[in-house]
Amino acid sequence: MIMKKKCALYASKLVKDGMVVGLGGGSTISYLIDYVKDKDIKVVSPSSKTVLLAQKMGLTVLNTQYVDHVDIAFDGCDEVDSHLNALKSGGGIHTQEKIIASMAGEYIVLVDESKFHETLAFKVPVVVEVLPKAYSIVKKKIEKLNGNIELRTASNKDGFLMSDEGNILLDVYFDGVQDIRLLNQTLLMMPGVVDTSLFVDILTGMILVNDKGVFKKER
Ligand code: 5RP
Repeated sequence: MIMKKKCALYASKLVKDGMVVGLGGGSTISYLIDYVKDKDIKVVSPSSKTVLLAQKMGLTVLNTQYVDHVDIAFDGCDEVDSHLNALKSGGGIHTQEKIIASMAGEYIVLVDESKFHETLAFKVPVVVEVLPKAYSIVKKKIEKLNGNIELRTASNKDGFLMSDEGNILLDVYFDGVQDIRLLNQTLLMMPGVVDTSLFVDILTGMILVNDKGVFKKER
């Protein structure tokens, strides 16, 4: 069995009938959906792909807008560290992911060993979701912090990659981050920044798979 499937199978055993379950995005979560599809659960998700897949599998998906409690939520990520801080970059749905995490009794990331670092390595960018009107000023402020911004191109009229909420997503590469809390706070304090893809003090646990087995770490 491939490693991500093992990780998803382990996670599925934490899902009990009657629960409201958060399911994020990515391939490991897709495997998890397959393992929980026959349970008596309701689902919320920040990912439109996950919503479609869960519905196709016969699961009831709730509108996050009308939910204020999730029993357990699972997500993927691109980097996670030994202090359970995480960095996401691919999906650009981190703001919705954090909303679901904030209402979840447990918020657990599913990773293979390649994503684990003693401290976050910042090999992937911090994604910053920005209100369009704040784009130029936020860009200027981030450049002052020595953040190297790469704009993902998209085929919309302005050529920007936009979030589901119609905001601009900036991929920001930082070199040698000393204090992730300070970096996150500094970014969040900029007017017009909606949220960042740095998850500091948010995860309650991680399930990590490597060639020796599957391991759960809790805060
Ligand atoms: C994107 C994410 C995804 O959840 C993550 O990349 C999914 O990983 P995988 O497909 O390996 O499960 O955080 O920013």
